This record gives sequence, structure tokens and C-alpha cells, in this order.
Amino acid sequence: MNNFTYWNPTKLIFGKDQLEQLKVEVPKYGKNVLIVYGGGSIKRNGLYDQVIAMLKEINAEVFELSGVEPNPRLTTVNKGVEIAKKENIDFLLAVGGGSVIDCTKAIAAGAKYNGDTWDIVTRKHTVTEALPFGTVLTLAATGSEMNSGSVITNWETKEKYGWGSPHTFPKFSILDPVNTFTVPKDQTVYGIVDMMSHVLEQYFHHTTNTPLQDRMCESVLTTVMEAAPELLKDLENYELRETILYNGTIALNGMLQMGYQGDWATHNIEHSVSAVYDIPHAGGLAILFPNWMKFTLDENVDRVKQLAIRVFNVNPNGKSDRETALEGIDKLSEFWSSLGAPSRLADYNIDEENIDLMAEKAMVKGEYGRFKVLNKEDTIQILRASL
Ligand code: NZQ
Ligand code: ZN
Repeated sequence: MNNFTYWNPTKLIFGKDQLEQLKVEVPKYGKNVLIVYGGGSIKRNGLYDQVIAMLKEINAEVFELSGVEPNPRLTTVNKGVEIAKKENIDFLLAVGGGSVIDCTKAIAAGAKYNGDTWDIVTRKHTVTEALPFGTVLTLAATGSEMNSGSVITNWETKEKYGWGSPHTFPKFSILDPVNTFTVPKDQTVYGIVDMMSHVLEQYFHHTTNTPLQDRMCESVLTTVMEAAPELLKDLENYELRETILYNGTIALNGMLQMGYQGDWATHNIEHSVSAVYDIPHAGGLAILFPNWMKFTLDENVDRVKQLAIRVFNVNPNGKSDRETALEGIDKLSEFWSSLGAPSRLADYNIDEENIDLMAEKAMVKGEYGRFKVLNKEDTIQILRASL
């Protein structure tokens, strides 16, 4: 293991009827509250009315930014920054999925910066302060509710980057599984693929002596794989929603990644694909991940073999290490396909036309990935294998 410091200041408020906690938490930060939400799911399922009623009870002055897109855009962040500055906003409340939360993080930092918000996303400006914000999570997927990361798209330049700062952890996040009941089947699948991908990004590393971390990662994967097919048959099952919601948070709140660094190359490639084609983040991951695993397999066959045996129950008897590992990768693809996730870029009508452009975008910060350092030619090969 490497030396590490773990610090995560987000207060996690988990369970049924916990929305009430808004009345305790929000007044700590001031009166002028900007609520940020997406395209209307919270209006259709009644959550919006509940949140507004609570904010009224504490006499908050409520402002609104709606219409945050999946793959949130810089233009929307800028609208929020403008409101925050003009209305002297004290506190931001994100009510939605990862996109709404990521947008809120960028608004929080942008509201305290006098330059172009894109400087924050491209890390030209180092964030030194941000408005406080909380979240009411409605979709289990990204882990954004308990991490400091944010992913923003500049649609004009077709760029999508992740950034983060110690100042952009949510002050609190309220996770009531009931608020995820209305997530449709396809988005539920994307969430499952995303959280599993987060674990896989962390699982593939070369640091030695990480037995507990390995087992923790494997536990998250096997728990999600047990619950997911059942949940898809019964989308309003409280216990299954609860299990998936908790796993999504654990997968990317830093707990799994203590003492080593994950790879994160597949996320980098996916962000380039969805910057050009605006496809769902996890749809891209489901396609790319198995191909990245095959491409990088020889960096450490034992590690992939361990995953194959422990998580995908591959029987290694009579097989070479490579065969066992490859069977594990196939089982991962089969599992995601069985849930209904896409397996080829062609499923999104993506052909080779923009492969070079996507590879170029993946290279914008230079070579990337830690399990195997990838260059542009490697990226092209992974994208080609994914067509
Ligand atoms: O916009 P509304 O109407 O709310 O509908 C959303 C959206 O269409 C809908 N939805 C959310 N909660 C719902 C619901 N529909 C019905 N009932 C509910 N309770 O679901 C759709 C997708 O929402 P979105 O927030 O985009 O999904 P997700 O949480 O998967 O977030 C994806 C974004 O997060 C980024 C991705 O790149 C992508 O931009 N990521 C952020 C990370 C982070 N901050 O740590 C890490 C991830 O790897 C990821 O890159
Ligand atoms: Zn992700």
C-alpha cells in the first residue's frame, strides 16, 4: 500500500423520510437558496413540491435553476453562476442525479470566481473557495453525492472534462431510496454499469498488498450483481433500491481507493465519446470497459484472473491464466448485456468517422491511465475494437 490520508467531510443522511433533515441542515448556511434540478422528473414524481414545502417552512428565499441536462453543459452552469452572484445566494441545493450535482458543484465554485467558469473545469484556475451546497439524490450512479468531482461539457467546443476541489464536497447529501423509485429501467441500468465501472477503474492497479481493498471492491461488485437483475424486475422494491443506492455511494466516495490509485482511462475515453456524441455516460462505459480490459490484460493477467474467479465464478481448472481472465471479461460483458446495456458503439450509430477526433480529445492532457499508460494509437485501437 502507499501512504494515504483520507478525508471526506460530506454528511451522509440515508434512508426513508430523511428529507425532513433539510429543515435542520439548510438554515445553517443562510437564507437565500438556489435549488438546481434537471428536466422535470422531480416535478413529475412530487419531490419538487416536497422540497419547496420544506424550504418554505424554514422561511428560505428560494431561487431556481431548472433544465440541467444529462451531461451538464457549461452554458447552464453559467446561468447558475449569474443567478448566484445577482441574488446573493447563500446556499445551493441540488435535487437530482449526478448531472444536477456536478452542475451545482461548478456553480458553487464559479460563484466565487471572477473569471470564466471554464477555467475551473480545465483547471486553469485553482478553486480556493466555493458556495456551500447540499444534495437530494434521485439516481444511484455517479457517487457525486459524496465526492468532490464534477464533469462538465462545453458543447460548443465538444469538450467534456472532470475536475474537483477540496471545496466542492457537498455539505450534506440526503439519500432516500424512495426518491429513486421512478428512475426508469434504462437509467437504472446505466447507474448500475456506472457504479460497477467505478469499482473496476479502482481495481486495476499495480500497488501491492491491497487485500482488504480488493475484497471491498469485489464485495461491491458481487452485491450489485446480485441485486441488479432482481431490481430490474421490481423497480419499486425498497430494499433493492436501498442496496443499489448505498453501493453507488461507496463505489466512488474514496473509501475503496485508500492506499493506491486507480486507472480511470476508460472514463477518460468515455468522456471523449460523450463529448462528441452526447450519449449516456454509462452506455459508453458498458461498451468500452471490456475492450479496455482486453487491451490492457497483459499488464497484469493475475489481477484480471483474480476478478474472474472471485467475482464472475470462473473455474480456472485446466485453463491458462489468460484464458481464465478472458472468460471473466466475457462474463462481465454478458452480465451487462443481460441487463440491457449496449455493447457496441454501433448501438448509438457511432461509426469510425470521428474516431480520430475522439482519440485526440482523450489525449488533451497527454498520455493517461495508470494500469497501462495509453497513447493516441492505443486509444484508437480500443475505440475500433468497440465499434
Ligand atoms: O433531468 P431529469 O428530468 O431529472 O431526468 C434525469 C435524466 O434524464 C433522470 N432522472 C434522475 N433521477 C430520476 C430521473 N428520472 C426519474 N426519476 C428519478 N428519480 O435520469 C436522467 C439521467 O440523469 P443524470 O443526472 O444525467 O444521470 P447520472 O446520475 O448517471 O449522471 C451522469 C453524469 O455524471 C457524470 C457523467 O459524466 C454524466 O455527465 N459523472 C460524474 C461523476 C462524479 N461527479 O463523480 C463520476 C461519473 O463517472 C460520471 O462521469
Ligand atoms: Zn462514471
